[in-house]
Amino acid sequence: MKKTINSDFFLKQIDADSRGIEANIKNATMVENKIDETISKLTLKEKVSMCHGAGLFRTQGVERLNILPIKMSDGPMGVRHEFPDDSWTPIGNSDDYVTYLPCNTALAATWSTDLAYEAGEVLGKEARGRGKDFILGPGINIIRSPLCGRNFEYMSEDPYLTSKMAVPFIKGVQEKNDISVCVKHFAVNNQETERLNVEPELDERTLREIYLPAFEAAVKEGNAYAIMTAYNKLFGHYCSHNKYLIKKILEEEWGFDGVVISDWGAIHDTVEAANAGMDIEMSVTTNFDEYYFANPLIKAVKEGEISEKVIDEKIKRILRLMYKINMFSDNRERGEYNSEENRKKTLDIARESIVLLKNERQILPLEDKKIKTLGVIGENANITHSNGGVSAEIKALYEITPLLGINMRLGGQTQVKYAKGYSNNKYLKEELINEAVELAKSCDAVIIIGGLKHISEDLELENNGITVIKNDKIKRRIDSEGYDRTDLELPYEQDDLIKRVLEVNKNAIVVMLSGSPVNMTRWIDDASAVVQTWYNGMEGGTALAEVLFGDVNPSGKLPITFPRKLEDCPAHKIGEFPGGEKVKYSEGVFVGYRYFSSYDIEPLFCFGHGLSYTNFKYEDLQVLVEGDKDDINISIILKISNCGQKTGKEVIQVYINDEESCVERPKIELKGFSKVSLEANESKEVKIKLGKKSLAYYSIEESKWVIQKGKFNIFVASSSMDIRLKEQIDIKSTYKF
Ligand code: BGC
Repeated sequence: MKKTINSDFFLKQIDADSRGIEANIKNATMVENKIDETISKLTLKEKVSMCHGAGLFRTQGVERLNILPIKMSDGPMGVRHEFPDDSWTPIGNSDDYVTYLPCNTALAATWSTDLAYEAGEVLGKEARGRGKDFILGPGINIIRSPLCGRNFEYMSEDPYLTSKMAVPFIKGVQEKNDISVCVKHFAVNNQETERLNVEPELDERTLREIYLPAFEAAVKEGNAYAIMTAYNKLFGHYCSHNKYLIKKILEEEWGFDGVVISDWGAIHDTVEAANAGMDIEMSVTTNFDEYYFANPLIKAVKEGEISEKVIDEKIKRILRLMYKINMFSDNRERGEYNSEENRKKTLDIARESIVLLKNERQILPLEDKKIKTLGVIGENANITHSNGGVSAEIKALYEITPLLGINMRLGGQTQVKYAKGYSNNKYLKEELINEAVELAKSCDAVIIIGGLKHISEDLELENNGITVIKNDKIKRRIDSEGYDRTDLELPYEQDDLIKRVLEVNKNAIVVMLSGSPVNMTRWIDDASAVVQTWYNGMEGGTALAEVLFGDVNPSGKLPITFPRKLEDCPAHKIGEFPGGEKVKYSEGVFVGYRYFSSYDIEPLFCFGHGLSYTNFKYEDLQVLVEGDKDDINISIILKISNCGQKTGKEVIQVYINDEESCVERPKIELKGFSKVSLEANESKEVKIKLGKKSLAYYSIEESKWVIQKGKFNIFVASSSMDIRLKEQIDIKSTYKF
């Protein structure tokens, strides 16, 4: 006789075993069996209730079978504040203050995979600590134009750097915290203008070489448990209805067995989305039963438009994910938020993310002993940023502003004087500039801290008591979801301010705080020292002060090109941005530095650039190529030395160039990097391995990756424009895979 197993017993059994690796392998089959058993017990209505939002940030559970709702929260810089199920007005209690992490662009600027893991770990722990199951991040879309309002939530213009940072981030979230990431936004979501309906037009090679690799790595190497489809269309279909993206690429090619959820309100048709592989519909309205994946889904199954097997497949994925994050266990991780350890990690990341762009005459670091009075100028010195950017906003437990960080660092021996310098109130501008100039004249040293902020200009003006006539001109948002900037310019006459301060103090240090590049050409030649910082987490001000006063040697490198002007950017020069209903990505694979280097356009600061307070020497390059007819392995070995007086960290970058390609390829493509710490006068041997795809391009004709035989140049560099060592290799046969 067949023995029936009591499901509670079964679950406990799985749970008791589930922490050991061997047990996990054994349990995989047990879990799958259990899932099938559960599915057989669920009614159609119950199944469907698990496939859509039943609150703005949760699904419905099935109580009688101990299936809990899945609770979600936005990231990626921290766990967002709590909302009620049915309203976008935050609850407003005091229990949702959290650790505020540096934004993703800042994280990418560290070029440290260890720090990426730590960032993920903090986020995962905090999400679990706040009782969540999914954290809606990381955002890993490619930064195609400097104007995209969500660039600060993304990592880089380069697919390799994004992949390498995303994978440890995802592992950090998931590995120890019983939490799932939700990697977003799949795919080709590179602008906010018309984001709900826009359709990028690009070819398959561009898709595969630029816009998909980070998602592929997230799934195949990072083992992401969930992925969020983007709002936009691709190849004629919304991403959420896109069989090619979800079924063919994500599931068939990459073997994704996790959950696909929609961006909020990204589904437009029940049958199309259900059959395309979408598992959970989330949205922005509160008529939860009317969602496409609610009553209409039940109806579509009953009327035979969708097979119930399709729904079962979704439930299978959802339950599988629930097991992965131990949702059925009494022993699930508790997580923790606002721990000292988490805060310390945000400081570690912030320290390594700051990029020293320019340092003529070595005027940085500043010597505190020589400074009796310090002038700090600029609104960004004195405001917080954690509470902005729309879905990336959070309630930070605290946020050290640059002004606070500088004061904390200097203590009582230096008098720090502050002037706001600029403001959105145009009537105050001249007055604020004059005040700042007077302050600059009277101080031993001056630091200007400007840049961007997550702002809605119309809201801000209204907060200042200025009536706003709603029209498109005034409704401008900067570094914020839902809007792209319209130009590269620094807002609020900051150029005038910086120029006039530099006229009276040529040693004034300029700090730009932003998530994207700004036009600095109006004053860059007059400034001797320029520093880039970001929305840099709760300890951002501490880290900045430590860099400015030399306690920390800067080691950040730009993860994006800083152009001289907008028209130099490939999306604007060759392609379209923001385009109309459709956006031509005619620049193809020539995104970011791939374009600047290939077409000899000089940027203001190139991709990979970042100075140090010490100097590094690169020597003794060896390139080892091993391979047979099926595979090829390349190892780069070199010696790196710190020739200066200070301990420092250097990011060694490896770019390749295919000299004899039959298709047009960029002059350089990043394929490896390593961040190395060296004490003064120390040398190290560094080995960097290049993956199989490093030499390949994607052939549209053959639908395959191709390494075409012939000569390749291997560049070892300190930035994309500072190549230190070079070697040529000859690949004897062509590889296709
Ligand atoms: C954003 C997502 C976010 C979601 C939930 C959407 O508008 O595009 O990134 O996770 O809202 O807040």
